[in-house]
Amino acid sequence: MADDIPWDQCNAKLDPAVADIVESFTAIELYLPDYNAKILPVIRSSKGRAWFYANWGYEESKHSLALGDWLLRSGHRTEKQMEELERRVFSTEWNLPEDNHLGMLVYAMVQERATWLNYRNLRQRASELGGDGALETILKHVSVDEMAHHGFFRDCVALYLKLDRTMVLEAMRSVMLDFKMPAINDLLDNNVRRLQQIYDLKIFDESAYYAEVFLPILQDLGVDRTELRRRNLGMRSVVVKP
Ligand SMILES: [Fe+2]
Ligand SMILES: [Fe+2]
Repeated sequence: MADDIPWDQCNAKLDPAVADIVESFTAIELYLPDYNAKILPVIRSSKGRAWFYANWGYEESKHSLALGDWLLRSGHRTEKQMEELERRVFSTEWNLPEDNHLGMLVYAMVQERATWLNYRNLRQRASELGGDGALETILKHVSVDEMAHHGFFRDCVALYLKLDRTMVLEAMRSVMLDFKMPAINDLLDNNVRRLQQIYDLKIFDESAYYAEVFLPILQDLGVDRTELRRRNLGMRSVVVKP
């Protein structure tokens, strides 16, 4: 982080609307202790997923550090404001949105791609609304991580699809037809204002989710949209272990 970000290119005059959204994403990344602490007991019997999450947590830890450092170094936030943000984040606990390992796998696959899209679009907006070499570089690195995370979870889902297509489709239906980004929808204070800022700058909305998250995932996994809509009334087959 010290060497790969051109910190001297921080732009104090960047549109404050961009900094507000950076603050929201920093807060989402700050829930890392809950993300790691709650998923590990669910998937601990899978060495692949458990070891992946150990490394995933390290990578995610750099996201909030880099974004938080940018808010400070660019002058868009003070130390006191950052302390207040952290206090608010840590006063609320995040809980798993799905109650089983398969649901969480599908959720992680979707959430990582949605996060990639958010960061990619924010980088474009930062460039258009004043430009900031430091922030744009951070967002480039972070979005590469998010897409790589998405790729791992998607490949896991593809394996489970071969094992039990019915059950995976059920999990996909549950997660993907009503997807919400973590934390921002229910944990952060001022979440209505924060979500509105994200819509206003055209960072993420339903049509972007559909075109750049939902459809590409179905295509990558070889799942047809009609399969996802259809409720399968057959009996659940074998329980798939993580
Ligand atoms: Fe992240
Ligand atoms: Fe990620």
